[in-house]
Amino acid sequence: MTDFSKFHLSESAKIVSDHIPGKESKKMIALQQKIEGSVVSYPRGIPIAIKKAKGAVIEDVDGNQFLDFFAGAGVVNLGHSNEEVLARVFEQQKNLIHALDFPTQNKMDAITKMLNALPDRLKGEYKVSFGGPTGSDAVEAAIKLAKIKTGRDTILAFSGGYHGMSAAALAMTSDVHYRKKLGTSVAGIHFIPYSYPYRCPFTEGPNNEESSGEACYKYIKMTIENSHSGIPLPAAIIMEPIQGEGGNIPAQRNFLEKTVKMAREHGIVVIFDEIQCGFFRSGKFLAFMHTDAVPDIITVSKGLGGVGLPIAGLIYRKDVEAWGPGDHIGTFRGNQASLAATNGAFDFVEKYKVAEHATEMGNYMMSLLSELQEASTYIGEVRGKGLMIGVEMVKDKATKEPYPEFVKLMKQTCLQKGLLFEVGGHYSNVIRFVPPLIITRTIVENAVEILRSALSELDKGFNKRIENEQSVEFAE
Ligand SMILES: Cc1ncc(COP(=O)(O)O)c(C=O)c1O
Repeated sequence: MTDFSKFHLSESAKIVSDHIPGKESKKMIALQQKIEGSVVSYPRGIPIAIKKAKGAVIEDVDGNQFLDFFAGAGVVNLGHSNEEVLARVFEQQKNLIHALDFPTQNKMDAITKMLNALPDRLKGEYKVSFGGPTGSDAVEAAIKLAKIKTGRDTILAFSGGYHGMSAAALAMTSDVHYRKKLGTSVAGIHFIPYSYPYRCPFTEGPNNEESSGEACYKYIKMTIENSHSGIPLPAAIIMEPIQGEGGNIPAQRNFLEKTVKMAREHGIVVIFDEIQCGFFRSGKFLAFMHTDAVPDIITVSKGLGGVGLPIAGLIYRKDVEAWGPGDHIGTFRGNQASLAATNGAFDFVEKYKVAEHATEMGNYMMSLLSELQEASTYIGEVRGKGLMIGVEMVKDKATKEPYPEFVKLMKQTCLQKGLLFEVGGHYSNVIRFVPPLIITRTIVENAVEILRSALSELDKGFNKRIENEQSVEFAE
């Protein structure tokens, strides 16, 4: 196993301030609130100003060091400022950065690596297109391509799904909170239940994974084949093979495979949004590669940019290619520095066997979390694949009543102890771990130890902490 310790600033958290945010962070956040728009969101839940970061460790401007199990929203899969990947970027920047969609060796290499990383059974069947630099751009492009291909305009999306903030991507994002101040941005989007055995609307009980996957599949099949379902034959079905913001929920294998097969029989384009669960996060290049499902379009971004450089694109079956020259254009398609990072990232993954490492660390972390689950009153489920792990908190393991207040306090308490993570889930009650894939066993153990200590602290005085919640939250 590779020793990744040298790729990190440290392997443990170090808190030197009396309280987080420290004095300097507070000052900078105050300045930010004064001069930057009020849509700023992350520093409200994680109130720190960042000085530097390396690997899985972020240092704030007060000198506190945090274990970063958020990885910039699942972006820095190979760690912050990975030196080997950065070297490739620096080299490229001396020669060329912006090249619209002209061919360059750098870009041809990146496309080739992406296509070569597909499973053997799919080799030769796909092409790549780049869109604007962010994940939402890829989602918009995928929807456009599906609509052009089918001549239809209805889309099926899933409860708990997240696809971005631009018009169509937002319309397909299930959390109504994001849309409540807006009207309908894109019509014709319908939401159906996602394969989520722990809270399946159709089946219950332990070990219901298979039956839940089957039931959810049957529901989609009925929606598509029954002309009285109220939903016209869709252009596309868009889903995350592992829901990210929805709470790190891996879809059941039978659900994915059967849905894709049935959709193809009806000429429906299946889009797998791998923006978050892709780029080896699940232990494979793309999360759907844990199954035999064959998607038509795959959206990729986030980890593809190696060290967090912006890049987004589509990997799609050649027979979906219904658009022609100029049907989808844009200034920043395939930035050369980002593409160099993509090349560097693929080479790093191969050289250090990162996929295998992510699987091993993911299994290790899940085993430690499962021990915590047994001891804790509030951990309803620990689930995940590779290093995309969800810990779902409930008030009562029998009723599964969601406990978002507890998760919020866990996040604040862990922050004080030096562990960063984000919260998600259909009920905002899931701790989402998406750390860099190069975390070490020591880092995993230290992170889980912080979680354990926060849990036991909160287990004891939880109600009191709820009353005092305002005092621990950074003032808005
Ligand atoms: C699955 C998924 N799709 C799309 C997006 C949107 O990407 P971006 O924020 O880069 O536009 C995200 C972002 O978190 C995502 O997780």
